[in-house]
Amino acid sequence: MLLPEHAGGPVLSAVPTAAAAPLVALQDVHLAFGGNAVLRGIDLEVRRGQAVSIIGPSGSGKSTILRCLTGLLEPQQGKVTVGGVSVRGLRTEAERIALRKRVGFVFQQYNLFPHLTVLQNLTIAPVRVLGRSRAQAEATAIGLLRKVRLADKAGAYPGELSGGQQQRVAIARALAMEPELILFDEVTSALDPETVGEVLTVIGDLVDEGLTCLLVTHEMRFAEEISDEVYFTEGGLIVEHGPARRIFSQPRSERTRAFLNRALGAPARPPADPFVASFDKLRFAI
Ligand SMILES: Nc1ncnc2c1ncn2[C@@H]1O[C@H](COP(=O)(O)OP(=O)(O)OP(=O)(O)O)[C@@H](O)[C@H]1O
Ligand SMILES: [Mg+2]
Repeated sequence: MLLPEHAGGPVLSAVPTAAAAPLVALQDVHLAFGGNAVLRGIDLEVRRGQAVSIIGPSGSGKSTILRCLTGLLEPQQGKVTVGGVSVRGLRTEAERIALRKRVGFVFQQYNLFPHLTVLQNLTIAPVRVLGRSRAQAEATAIGLLRKVRLADKAGAYPGELSGGQQQRVAIARALAMEPELILFDEVTSALDPETVGEVLTVIGDLVDEGLTCLLVTHEMRFAEEISDEVYFTEGGLIVEHGPARRIFSQPRSERTRAFLNRALGAPARPPADPFVASFDKLRFAI
């Protein structure tokens, strides 16, 4: 079997043991487009049951890291493994398809089939690619629609849904393939602000249930809240990584601190000048 650890199990896995080998590992990954070095030695791990976020400025290589994991891009140097299988070692199209069955990918653009209903969008690949019976695939799809809070939209067409609803269908569609992990790349950045929250809530629910995922996001508070680990990238390097709480409350690198200050708004104001403070008190007293 090409992919030895693939149990075909659901993506919502039990919480892993600390000693388990990482599901995803990148080691010293280098990738350049022509003369443009985009990844310059990336080390990153995701363990089963973990939610890991990659944050960092635009162009720092976040999406490129995700693409290396699905075999869409091949690094010039370094190791990329998913479930113990070397992604760089995949040579045939069949091997790449086998990998993509294990790794779900949700993008900014949801790319649903516009001529199929929501239910059909969720069942087409499980029937055609995984060989599920239609009844089986529909039962799973209905359960997943409940999970993403769209049970009443099974018969709707994508064009009849809001952006946030379509993105939730795209998440359910990824889950329907029973991947071992899901990659989320800026899944809320094309949405109206009022629908961002509903998509983040759904991802948060899935993470609480044990979804293994690697997220690229500009939603800093969300990354802080749901992630076990956070990686901060800049210029194709991991500047710093660690537990989410630590990265957000006590970043070790000045670059991480500057990025978070920009992304989260102005830092806390410096302690008030005692003179100004007493002047303010006086002003309010008058
Ligand atoms: N197919 C490609 N060909 C050439 N250069 C590319 C290609 N894909 C990405 N790049 C370059 O690689 C660098 C990193 O791109 P990447 O998309 O990984 O950044 P990112 O961190 O995801 O940024 P953003 O937050 O804007 O999505 C950028 O300079 C980009 O222009
Ligand atoms: Mg990107």
